[in-house]
Amino acid sequence: MTRDDLFNTNATIVATLAAACAKHCPEAMICIIANPVNSTIPITSEVFKKQGVYNPNRIFGVTTLDIVRANTFVAELKGLDPARVNVPVIGGHAGKTIIPLISQCTPKVEFPEDQLKTLTGRIQEAGTEVVKAKAGAGSATLSMAYAGARFVFSVVDAMNGKEGVVECSFVRSEETECSYFSTPLLLGVCFRRWAYTLAEPELLAVAFLL
Ligand SMILES: NC(=O)c1ccc[n+]([C@@H]2O[C@H](COP(=O)([O-])OP(=O)(O)OC[C@H]3O[C@@H](n4cnc5c(N)ncnc54)[C@H](O)[C@@H]3O)[C@@H](O)[C@H]2O)c1
Repeated sequence: MTRDDLFNTNATIVATLAAACAKHCPEAMICIIANPVNSTIPITSEVFKKQGVYNPNRIFGVTTLDIVRANTFVAELKGLDPARVNVPVIGGHAGKTIIPLISQCTPKVEFPEDQLKTLTGRIQEAGTEVVKAKAGAGSATLSMAYAGARFVFSVVDAMNGKEGVVECSFVRSEETECSYFSTPLLLGVCFRRWAYTLAEPELLAVAFLL
């Protein structure tokens, strides 16, 4: 399925689930992996707005698979352990909107221009590579559960007070002129500054300046 096909199927499903969450668990951290994430996050946000319970700090698009793929491909090329490679991937979660920041990779890595171009393209089209390898036997779900679990564990760690938890995620953003954008986010509990009564903890997503 193309992302347009996925939109037709998933938009209604996500909107229905979002409406149920907005009604029954409006304070929950909503982590959406259903594609196209570039659309399902704005859809969820609008549903929450409509029900008057919108909090952009609690709605996350799970783009972790892009980071996992980028880490793996860089590690393969450089003979590194993928678990120790971290490539921030910003932007969106479809084709050219996926922007791997290989210059920001830890550990620092360098590639000749042509290899960098090929590597960037491979990260952007990795889903298609998986679909082709499956040859009609399914969608690009390789490692999706791993990516989803990693992101949710990070959110839970942050909610439990762990400090310095950083994950890239597609969220409401003011970093660029795009309304929604993925950047590395510092996840953690903070206190609402504008609360007049007892301060209430909430999960704040702070975009790091790159
Ligand atoms: N963000 C990512 O990195 C990424 C990567 C790959 C796939 N995906 C997306 O993940 C999603 C799941 O992919 P999959 O291959 O596991 O699909 P799948 O078809 O194997 O599983 C989907 C599940 O959702 C359930 N479901 C369908 N409609 C529902 C509804 N209205 N309410 C509750 N549950 C419902 C189905 O019963 C099924 O169990 C898809 O949207 C896919 O596009 C995301």
